[in-house]
Amino acid sequence: MSVNKLDDLRQKKAKILAGGGKSRIEKQHSSGKLTARERIDLLFDEGTFVELDAFVKHRCTNFGMESVDAPAEGVIIGYGKVEGRLVYAYSQDFTVVGGSLGEMHAAKICKAMDNALKMGCPLVGLNDSGGARIQEAVDALSGYGKIFFRNTIASGVIPQITAIMGPCAGGAVYSPALTDFVFMVDKTSQMFITGPQVIKTVTGEEVTAEALGGAMTHNAVSGVAQYMAANDEACIADIRRLLSFLPSNNMETAPEYLCDQDINSINEMLNDVIPDNPNKPYDMFDIIKVLVDQGDYMEYQPHFAKNIITCLARLNGKTVGIIANQPKVQAGCLDVNASDKAGRFIRTCDAFNIPLLNIVDVPGFLPGTQQEYGGIIRHGAKMLYAYCEATVPKLTLIVRKAYGGAYLAMCSKDLGADLVLAWPSAEIAVMGPQGAANIIFRTEIQESENPVETRARVIQEYTDEFATPYKAAERGFVDDVIEPAATRPRLIDAFDMLASKREVRPAKKHGNIPL
Ligand code: HXC
Repeated sequence: MSVNKLDDLRQKKAKILAGGGKSRIEKQHSSGKLTARERIDLLFDEGTFVELDAFVKHRCTNFGMESVDAPAEGVIIGYGKVEGRLVYAYSQDFTVVGGSLGEMHAAKICKAMDNALKMGCPLVGLNDSGGARIQEAVDALSGYGKIFFRNTIASGVIPQITAIMGPCAGGAVYSPALTDFVFMVDKTSQMFITGPQVIKTVTGEEVTAEALGGAMTHNAVSGVAQYMAANDEACIADIRRLLSFLPSNNMETAPEYLCDQDINSINEMLNDVIPDNPNKPYDMFDIIKVLVDQGDYMEYQPHFAKNIITCLARLNGKTVGIIANQPKVQAGCLDVNASDKAGRFIRTCDAFNIPLLNIVDVPGFLPGTQQEYGGIIRHGAKMLYAYCEATVPKLTLIVRKAYGGAYLAMCSKDLGADLVLAWPSAEIAVMGPQGAANIIFRTEIQESENPVETRARVIQEYTDEFATPYKAAERGFVDDVIEPAATRPRLIDAFDMLASKREVRPAKKHGNIPL
């Protein structure tokens, strides 16, 4: 090989590696963002990233684009290892034509997606882009269309994770929205269909980009994103952590980790964690922390619908997805947002063979016109549907209230729970004792000489008779009533027993989940 040819290759590669050049990289850094290549370096195990398509060029000749050199076409794609496992990624380079997406930029992303699907490995997208490359017109739009199509085809086959690490506007938001997990970086990322200027022109409404589509807005208000991080480094560390809970594809199970905790350990604290007063709230995380390995869990949508907790954790080294009511927030009632959050999480776990642990303390669905007009029937149905449809091992632990429709919605035996365990503090009934007394003992209370005393007596009678796990256990709706202290070993044993579960459903094109 002549020295010239090698020099030529090295020079070409050096130019590509320099991205949009020193001043644009400085601007990127001064706005609190890492470059596309720095992000890739953090994502992959050191030295494992292999870049593809670095030489790709755009073919646009409109508006002076023929003289625009766009190193790597504004997006870096390739594969590497994350904790030793294959992952494909793309990372948009804002320093090159604003990371804007044209025909060939999109073709590179599509190549990464196609390869990830063929190899059965996760795809991570790091987005930082001004959106459709304006000079490329419909070719740019077509590029997005091709990506959306692939996002959908790959859905439920490989985990797709997107991080928004800069602007993400217009139709560009729909690729992230089609993926399983969306991360946003606080203060440096925004997602919106129409920006503040357009909104002002069309509706007269004034709003900042951050308030409209910043990380907290989409994590806490819209529910579009599931995670937010303080900066790029933290975001990428979180993506690596999330990957550790997930299998590479829908045919595999998540990687197992060594658990050095005693799997038979009894935790006496659990015997006292439920307050004697049934109306007193407590923090469900106090229970979750002592049940899972090392007290370690990764919350999904921690800022959204806090009345329900969804998180990934491990039991004896194996990933489980936990759905738990949070009595500390709105008494743990189910509402529109909680139903959406849980429904999506359940389906994500089911798609990727992650067993479900449902921890129940739910007084019911949240009453009110706001909920009814907001479609709680339709949204609640998503959660029911997701539980019924899921074929992964489903284990339900009832720790306190399990009333009415919400008892069913939290994966009762009839919704397909493989095993239902209850603590002695469980209350499984159509409704709480107070409400029940007002209805079934109304006449007795009204006609008695001392209504206050009578009411207290009938509430107590109802409580003794129905606000227990035993009526349900007598019918086999609860498989066992257990001592809280022994819950962790019991869960580990149960998931071990359920590991070989196979459940086949009738063949169909696809179900019709209420949307
Ligand atoms: C071409 C673009 C671009 C775009 C940015 N650039 N966005 N080039 N197409 N969409 C270029 C800029 O010209 C500039 O080039 C460089 O990228 C950096 O941009 P700046 O404006 O200097 O950066 P900043 O001040 O940080 O502002 C970033 C921005 C702004 C807020 C993203 O650039 C912007 O508003 N861009 C347009 C956004 C947009 O409307 N996109 C279309 C959305 S609709 P130089 O050479 O000066 O460095 C869409 C439809 C998708 O995406 C439909 C899918 C179905």
